[in-house]
Amino acid sequence: MLLSFHSYKGGTGKTTFLSNLGVYFAQQGQKIGIIDTDVNGPGIHSLFDINFSKTLVDFLRDECKISDIIYKPYENLEFYIIPAKACEEDITSMFNSPTQAKDKMLEIVKFMNKNLNLDHVLFDCSPGINKSSLLIMNIADRATIVSTIDVQDIRGTYILSNMSSKLGTKANLLFNKTPKDKSDEINDIVADFCKKLGTSLLGLITFDDTVARTWSRKLVIIEEKDCDYCQQLCNIAKKLLIS
Ligand SMILES: Nc1ncnc2c1ncn2[C@@H]1O[C@H](COP(=O)(O)OP(=O)(O)O)[C@@H](O)[C@H]1O
Ligand SMILES: [Mg+2]
Repeated sequence: MLLSFHSYKGGTGKTTFLSNLGVYFAQQGQKIGIIDTDVNGPGIHSLFDINFSKTLVDFLRDECKISDIIYKPYENLEFYIIPAKACEEDITSMFNSPTQAKDKMLEIVKFMNKNLNLDHVLFDCSPGINKSSLLIMNIADRATIVSTIDVQDIRGTYILSNMSSKLGTKANLLFNKTPKDKSDEINDIVADFCKKLGTSLLGLITFDDTVARTWSRKLVIIEEKDCDYCQQLCNIAKKLLIS
């Protein structure tokens, strides 16, 4: 399955979530690929201890082969990442048409599926309403929109959710960094919001100091598996594949 992760604002916790989620799936025996398509502000490489040279950007510019940009951070897991490096263009503006960009991304997916026999590919998308995020949403089987309960996020989440309906991609909403207290009240607010939108609620993840203190240098799913964040992530992971 192709799973994309979006947000309206940056910093909602998308990269952290999908990286931990991908490793969690791999720990369960699934074969997982993660692609960082947020080439304006890539982040995935920080969370994994790998030395990388070629990235998605080099492949999109036809400067290397697909096999040069796939990295396997863990010996014991069927888990692969395609990192990105920061550049001014986005994945659509590198091409003459969005169709060309889409074909190039699909070429990567095809290659990974054929050579690595993956169960799921997770895409980290650039924040905001932009062509590259929508292009990935368009090719995904399922889109997850990560939001906080901040009003600035909520408004954009509403727009992103409507976009997913127009594109015919089923979207789920995930609210991250919710305050630990008043969780019943917050549950009611987000459930009501999702009902009005006609979008399913994947779940809530509370603000967790353990995650905040990683400074994106490590994955809690590997080093702090008992933390609240991981427990909430495990419940959401089950829901994500069936909802
Ligand atoms: N539930 C959480 N509790 C506390 N900090 C979090 C949580 N989720 C993510 N973070 C932190 O928030 C920051 C931004 O997360 P990141 O995943 O890079 O966001 P995005 O990819 O949406 O821009 C990181 O420092 C990360 O460790
Ligand atoms: Mg990010």
